[in-house]
Amino acid sequence: MGRLEGRVATVIGAGQTPGETIGNGRATAITFAREGARLLLVDRDVESLQETAELARTGTGEVHTVALDITEPDAPQLAVTAATDRFGRIDILHNNVGIGEGDGPPHRLQEEAYDRIMEVNLRAMWRMCRSAIPAMREGGGGAIVNVSSLASVASAGNLTAYKLSKAGVNALTQNIAITNAKYGIRANAILPGFIDTPMAVDAAARASGRDRSELARERSAWVPLGRQGTAWDVAAAALFLASDEAAFITGILLPVDGGQSARIG
Ligand SMILES: NC(=O)c1ccc[n+]([C@@H]2O[C@H](COP(=O)([O-])OP(=O)(O)OC[C@H]3O[C@@H](n4cnc5c(N)ncnc54)[C@H](O)[C@@H]3O)[C@@H](O)[C@H]2O)c1
Repeated sequence: MGRLEGRVATVIGAGQTPGETIGNGRATAITFAREGARLLLVDRDVESLQETAELARTGTGEVHTVALDITEPDAPQLAVTAATDRFGRIDILHNNVGIGEGDGPPHRLQEEAYDRIMEVNLRAMWRMCRSAIPAMREGGGGAIVNVSSLASVASAGNLTAYKLSKAGVNALTQNIAITNAKYGIRANAILPGFIDTPMAVDAAARASGRDRSELARERSAWVPLGRQGTAWDVAAAALFLASDEAAFITGILLPVDGGQSARIG
């Protein structure tokens, strides 16, 4: 407890897709709150955002919300201003937003889906970092955690735009790390593998008309540790990277994947 005591953390994409389990953004927001962070939570889904805020309020720190579609050009600055107006600073930026709807193999992917996925997953994340970095520099440093995907470095099947956008997230993260190290800002990415979240399992089962538990079993079978990860596994990695325990770690791409990336070597 208290690993983020007094820190101001902004979680972008703190709501979640409806489903049986908990999403990565929500679990991270709750984990940060339990560890004493003061939180500014952002999502475009107002209801889901409020649900996360209620759950996070069981922690020790203050929790505020702002409903924004992060792809709106002024949204990143509004999020940063909401945090600095309320708390006077921003120490941690956790970028969780990511989508994959409409994606396809390279020979079938449509322009509209490509543009949307790149806009949400990459451009909006870059803009979010661009807005937060000056405030972090002013405050003497900070930690950025970007949620990428194992798909950025491993086989992604039909997820062409998703893979490209997440490869971009990796490159963005490393570039931020290098250009901002001298200002005390660290930037790292998490590469989740198969995580049992509503977005990855419930939504995928609904979209393909498949049975949820059958899909979950299939995903587990791919993982060397024999199970899918949970959003709490991702949140634990985010907490580590956001905290002072990772003070000498910047520019890394951390798989949270039950060993799947070990197959790549
Ligand atoms: N679950 C997995 O197996 C898995 C694997 C690899 C990577 N990931 C990554 O994890 C991240 C999210 O996972 P999750 O389980 O929390 O998903 P989720 O869909 O439950 O949560 C994402 C949140 O982002 C919000 N959002 C989407 N577009 C937005 C926008 N334009 N503006 C503001 N908010 C927006 C959604 O409303 C939702 O609440 C994504 O980046 C995803 O690519 C997940």
